[in-house]
Amino acid sequence: MNHFEYRHGRLHAEDVDLESLARAEGTPAYVYSTATLTRHFQVFDRALEGLDHLVCFALKANSNQAVIATLGRLGAGADVVSGGEMVRALAAGIPPDRIVFSGVGKSQMEMDAAIAARIFQINVESAEELELLSQAAVGRKAVADIVLRVNPDVDAKTHEKISTGKGENKFGIAIDRIAEVANIACDLPGIRLRGLALHIGSQLTDLAPLEQAFGKVIALIKELRAQGHELDRLDLGGGLGIPYRGETPPLPDAYGAMVRRLTQGLEVKLICEPGRLIAGNAGILLSRVLYVKQGSSRQFLVLDAAMNDLIRPAMYDSWHDICAVSPRGGEGSHEVYDVVGPVCESSDIFAKARSLSPLDAGDLVAIMSAGAYGAVMASTYNTRALVPEILVNGADYAVIRPRESIESLIARDQIPPWLKS
Ligand code: LLP
Repeated sequence: MNHFEYRHGRLHAEDVDLESLARAEGTPAYVYSTATLTRHFQVFDRALEGLDHLVCFALKANSNQAVIATLGRLGAGADVVSGGEMVRALAAGIPPDRIVFSGVGKSQMEMDAAIAARIFQINVESAEELELLSQAAVGRKAVADIVLRVNPDVDAKTHEKISTGKGENKFGIAIDRIAEVANIACDLPGIRLRGLALHIGSQLTDLAPLEQAFGKVIALIKELRAQGHELDRLDLGGGLGIPYRGETPPLPDAYGAMVRRLTQGLEVKLICEPGRLIAGNAGILLSRVLYVKQGSSRQFLVLDAAMNDLIRPAMYDSWHDICAVSPRGGEGSHEVYDVVGPVCESSDIFAKARSLSPLDAGDLVAIMSAGAYGAVMASTYNTRALVPEILVNGADYAVIRPRESIESLIARDQIPPWLKS
């Protein structure tokens, strides 16, 4: 469910008319809904009600500080994967004791910063990382709470590029090495092993692979406890999918029921790291049609937004619904378009042979479900400035990241002395 709806024939974000918003703020622009972010967080959190748990929003999905702060006020923590994301989470007001830090390649500086900030947990992904972490903790006279991320070798049955839990993936520690690495961790000073973590992939539309992976890791917790390790945390990662194109991913309640069943009597604090589920359908990319161009065999809708603004279709062949903001021509009338952007790449395509309400140059479209892995993955390819992000709240809205200017973008280049004369 989201809060982008037609009222009197025009698409609105909550109570904000997108035609007026585009006139005032220009296009392209990301537009997020506070009500949708709130609802998604609360539905997920309530699905785990009664269990000792912490929901850490995966900042990689959307790391605008206004989005983080919106969720933080509702009690969310943050799952961060870089020192930069940790700084963002802290700046947005997430308390350190609600931050978990995952990632296969944490640098020494990042680990040191995480220890200095006294964050809740560091998710360790290799034996090699442990050594550096221990040194950093000892250097700061601290004890870092860690969990080991297990690679459970389970096929998440999702797109190859967002699958993370198979043996061939770079993530986590091979399940059959965990006992050995747990012993290494226990022998190192400055480290306290608290539990295990996993994350098998993103945009999962079936609970079965999750259940299989959770089962393996829970069995491992029991084994490690039998060997004397005192474990009291289980980090279940993220991964629940959203409907981009009529998929029916498991609802949070079904996920919650499965987790409840599997963890009964386990006596652990659960940590969850949802990203897409919270932010995906809470955002759109608002764009204007520049041209309707007749090709030899197709009709192209050339938008002012491009692959540099939203890379998902080019990178994962992903589907995003595209809606005319003010549909014309009455019920059922449609045209078939290839929807493309202005970037000089054949892969700059949002949709092929898409049936849409008839559109003209100057009309607005909304590229739906762009709240997760949209703005965060944008680039300035073709010297296109980063587009603004706007957060709607009822009838109110605020620009939460202004449009970058081309001047500030190019001012970052520096001419070396030998080219100056
Ligand atoms: N935790 C860990 C350790 C992760 O690696 C990820 C996502 C998450 C949590 C959040 O997963 P979610 O709940 O959002 O599925 N750019 C891709 C998605 C990459 C996901 C990477 N890891 C896309 O646009 O589909």
